Amino acid sequence: MLLTLARSKSILFFGGKGGVGKTTVSAGTALAMAAEGRRVLLVSTDPAHNLGHLFNRDVGPRPVRLAPNLDGMELDPEETVNQHLEEVSGSLRKLMAPHLAGEVDKHIELSRDAPGMQEAAIMEKIAEVVELAAKDYDLLVFDTAPSGHTARLIALPEMMSAWTDGLITRRDKAERFSSVLRNMGSDKSVGNKIFGGNEKDPVADRESSIRSLLNRRRRRFSDLRTALSDPARTSFVIVLAAERLPVLETIALHGQLRRSGVTVGGLVVNKRSPEDKGDFLKERRLQEEVHLATLREALPDLPRQDLVLVAHDVVGLQALQRFAEGLE
Ligand SMILES: Nc1ncnc2c1ncn2[C@@H]1O[C@H](COP(=O)(O)OP(=O)(O)OP(=O)(O)O)[C@@H](O)[C@H]1O
Ligand SMILES: [Mg+2]
Repeated sequence: MLLTLARSKSILFFGGKGGVGKTTVSAGTALAMAAEGRRVLLVSTDPAHNLGHLFNRDVGPRPVRLAPNLDGMELDPEETVNQHLEEVSGSLRKLMAPHLAGEVDKHIELSRDAPGMQEAAIMEKIAEVVELAAKDYDLLVFDTAPSGHTARLIALPEMMSAWTDGLITRRDKAERFSSVLRNMGSDKSVGNKIFGGNEKDPVADRESSIRSLLNRRRRRFSDLRTALSDPARTSFVIVLAAERLPVLETIALHGQLRRSGVTVGGLVVNKRSPEDKGDFLKERRLQEEVHLATLREALPDLPRQDLVLVAHDVVGLQALQRFAEGLE
């Protein structure tokens, strides 16, 4: 199921609760696709990165080669927030009168720890990866943070474009106002006096540079929105354990994603108890079936792949390759 799904998409997201195996399953899928000859970029968006641990090597915010055809990177929320705030503060300073610069700084410092800030920054980075990596890779695989964050993240492009649209509307008003002033009567310098312009009209220059920055960001988010809500291109895979709460959360997450226009392409039930390793695990497996029946009832048409619990952690390329062989 998983590989069939992956073969037909260019963007895959893996989400689910903490510790269920998102990193392992997404990396296994990425590795299998790379082995089939597709150029794959594996991206961890989880602030608690573990690609490095899984591949036994340093993976940073820029792509590194992990295996033939497979590159990996970890989005760095701290660095991203700093970059994001610098850019926002730069454009705010341009928008505001110079004596308000102190206010801008205060606003930016408060924003740094505002709820949703890291998610917004990560979303911006995801949008950038989707835009820039498309020409170098055939498949982007995103290993995301545990579920609550993921759904918020996915719903964010709307909020982000609301933010840029708000600024653009305000700019439009300001621009119209300034053009009225500039054209008032025969004295064209009235507007310039108020806006501090001169013959070369730096106000217009400044406005067009802010506008192009806002428009670039806005376009990037709307492109991301388009990509995320195109089921032919993008799919979301929920990884879960066959337990009561994870099943209920999976059903809820599926609903959230659907409401924000993202198609869930499949479910991976990981760490299933093996059938043939003694009575205890056999009984455990039967208990799992009870929870999976709830899942099937709620999401009857969703393809599902079960992966069995193995004796050892999956660490290192070889172990991952073996793990990937169990995918289909
Ligand atoms: N089928 C499996 N059998 C045995 N161990 C597994 C299996 N799948 C994953 N693991 C192990 O479970 C642990 C958690 O897996 P992983 O890091 O992939 O989960 P995660 O969902 O990415 O966690 P987090 O939410 O913390 O990012 C790892 O030690 C991994 O090796
Ligand atoms: Mg992980």
